[in-house]
Amino acid sequence: MAVGIDKLGFYTPSLALDLVELAKARGDEPDKYTIGIGQSVQTVVPNYEDVVTMGVNAAKEILTEDDLAKIEMLIFATESGIDNSKSAAVFAQELLGLSPFIRTIEMKQACYAGTYGLMQAKDFVTLHPDKKVLVIAGDIARYGLKTPGEVTQGAGAIAMVVSADPAIATINDDSVYMSRDVADFWRPVDSTTALVDGHLSTDVYKEMFLTLWQRYQEQTGHELADFAGFAFHLPYTKMGKKALDQIMDQADNQQQAFLREQLTASQVYNRQVGNLYTGSVYLALLSLLQQGQLTDGQRLGVFSYGSGAEAELFSLELVPGFDKAVAGQDVLAQLAQRQNVSVAEYEAIFQSQLFDSSKNQESDAPDGTGLCQFVGWQDGQRR
Ligand code: CAA
Repeated sequence: MAVGIDKLGFYTPSLALDLVELAKARGDEPDKYTIGIGQSVQTVVPNYEDVVTMGVNAAKEILTEDDLAKIEMLIFATESGIDNSKSAAVFAQELLGLSPFIRTIEMKQACYAGTYGLMQAKDFVTLHPDKKVLVIAGDIARYGLKTPGEVTQGAGAIAMVVSADPAIATINDDSVYMSRDVADFWRPVDSTTALVDGHLSTDVYKEMFLTLWQRYQEQTGHELADFAGFAFHLPYTKMGKKALDQIMDQADNQQQAFLREQLTASQVYNRQVGNLYTGSVYLALLSLLQQGQLTDGQRLGVFSYGSGAEAELFSLELVPGFDKAVAGQDVLAQLAQRQNVSVAEYEAIFQSQLFDSSKNQESDAPDGTGLCQFVGWQDGQRR
């Protein structure tokens, strides 16, 4: 039985920072950011958004009454959790109006956790084909002002409905995965910003992709010519190029040119949003599905990487009519509608986040947006 991604939705907050402006303010060459790292714009997160609001707003893009009736599990993958005990999934269940008779759980393993959620969802639906699973993968990538990671910040969430006979893509049963204890990126429990050994993280990512690609070929017998494109975890868009370049010598000139075009198509949205940790690889997938040159039945590779480190490589097969199933959301229009902020405004917003739950605080949530918003803390609880 075919099980896979039936729906795919995306949400990112409404403020944006032009990275040429950030480069100038930081005394860096703009080309370093836009070409060397490959990021043009990053989403800025107002203090009335958190992972719950982003995840709920992403899910609202895709959920139908039929989904609400059939979803039996909600998996929320994030490394930007809002409570050390209560999962973001419980908040989202209530806000989305899902049945109380479902399982809700939060998953954490850096940027990898969304893929674990997707695979759990696939296994569950394989056993219970009449049920659906909602997987949300969302984060706020926050490194700190004037750090090397600042240019790779971003935020947003992806929501996926996993079902039998999916409308977008079947998840093939060909995953290869690996875990290794590496100190390339971490966030201590008392820190609101991530710490990173950036160059080590890039090296480990590349190494794990190459190792898993070789293992995938050995285990499945598939070769590069079988793939119509890849969705990579994109902490910054250049990372996808660094990974793919390692195996390009396995393709002839024509396929190399084609795979590079498909890579560019997969990078369109991430280039304008920045890193959304758990959701990044699925934003790259959405970008490839909407902007790439694809046809029914083709095989796509998905490479998921989470620092610390864990990685997984698997493939998807495009279902007839997948293009219509992903056409519902005009992501480029939504990105263009974001309001640009100056570097000074971005810095003020960055400092205004309400992380101190020991104080009763209210966010600056505006009226009348129609979106789910974070309103503040009350007695240590998210209100
Ligand atoms: N014009 C064009 N290119 C330029 C340039 C210019 N004027 N100046 C520099 N560059 C190029 C450099 O040559 C370099 O290119 P290559 O990587 O291809 O060699 C690129 O711009 C970046 O330059 P640096 O390496 O000098 O930049 P940096 O030291 O400031 O660090 C970074 C870059 C490591 C990505 C840093 O932003 C960072 O630490 N980011 C956060 C960590 C991260 O994203 N890691 C990715 C792997 S981990 C992961 O995937 C999990 C996750 O989500 C965090």
